[in-house]
Amino acid sequence: MTARNIPRRVCLLTGGGDAPGLNAVVRGFVHRATQSELTVFGSRYGLEGLLGRDEVVPLGLHDVGGILPRGGSILGCSTRSNPLAVSETDETRKAAFSTVSRRLHELKIDALVLAGGDGTMAIAARFAESGIACVGIPKTIDGDLGGTERTCGFDTAVQVATHAIDALHSTAEAHQRVLVLEVMGRNAGLIALHSAIAGGADVALLPEIPYDVIRVAAKIRDRERRGLRFSIVVVGEGARPIGGTASQIESAARQRPARLGGAAERLMHELQEARLEHDVRTTVLGHLQRGGTPSAFDRLLGTRFGVHAAGLCAEGRFGRMVSLRSGHVDSIPLAEACAARAGVDPEGELVRCARAVGIELGAA
Ligand code: F6P
Repeated sequence: MTARNIPRRVCLLTGGGDAPGLNAVVRGFVHRATQSELTVFGSRYGLEGLLGRDEVVPLGLHDVGGILPRGGSILGCSTRSNPLAVSETDETRKAAFSTVSRRLHELKIDALVLAGGDGTMAIAARFAESGIACVGIPKTIDGDLGGTERTCGFDTAVQVATHAIDALHSTAEAHQRVLVLEVMGRNAGLIALHSAIAGGADVALLPEIPYDVIRVAAKIRDRERRGLRFSIVVVGEGARPIGGTASQIESAARQRPARLGGAAERLMHELQEARLEHDVRTTVLGHLQRGGTPSAFDRLLGTRFGVHAAGLCAEGRFGRMVSLRSGHVDSIPLAEACAARAGVDPEGELVRCARAVGIELGAA
């Protein structure tokens, strides 16, 4: 670092699962950092590069040309390199943190910028506590990071889910079926609720509001009585019946949280048990929500976040996460970002809006 705490060499990484708009983050960061004459490096596959299990590569303007429309991240992502994962021991954690500090020192890198979700922000906060100059950039399709109105990737995921609801409508109507769409979001129902409203779904089941299947069946039967012999149900992967738990494909294991999945299938069986006579089918949208071309909103947000993060580095302002507040890009302390969580507020305006347009949420 220079006397004024201004770094000369900074390293960027994209941690956790990929999200649309990450390449805009990388491109915006590299452009703005280059203007301030910072030398930029990229750690491949999240922390893997800095842990010595992959590379740390120079990142210049020529590397970021033409990447805006591309999904994923040109740096690669990893969900396998979280030293704070519950399965890690204190010793492996310490070893990982000291390997990263040593690598940064060897490469003469004096600041680290981490784009990621809650796990990555927790790592950034821990690095910051241990004296490493860090900046965080919020990205996750789930939209569940606190301290920011939007995370990079959420808008595209909602758009993909909304298009899926549009597409399902035609078959549901033509065949008089109940079509259940399972969307991602982990323990947050934000993708489910936003896309259900935008796509005009009839039922939305969210992790934040445990559901009663009898209400779901009643809604479908009521539509039938009104001559509407089809229904679209959107179910967040973390949704659960009252008194039940979220459906899992795989329980938590080393370095990874439990894999959620099966919520749509479970609901189908519950509806059959509730003696619903309709033909019920399921669609699991899965990783389609994370891939493909990022929306204009996510490219714009990613660019703004990347530019702002590089600006913070150029000013020597560390220990902060870039955030969107009242439509403006700013930053908040990393510790504050980690303490806050976002999700559907069961009493909130969006829930009231969903109910106002007749969407059944499975509970009063
Ligand atoms: O956090 C993003 C997310 O896509 C969640 O919505 C989903 O539960 C999870 O990641 C899937 O992770 P993976 O691709 O590692 O199975």
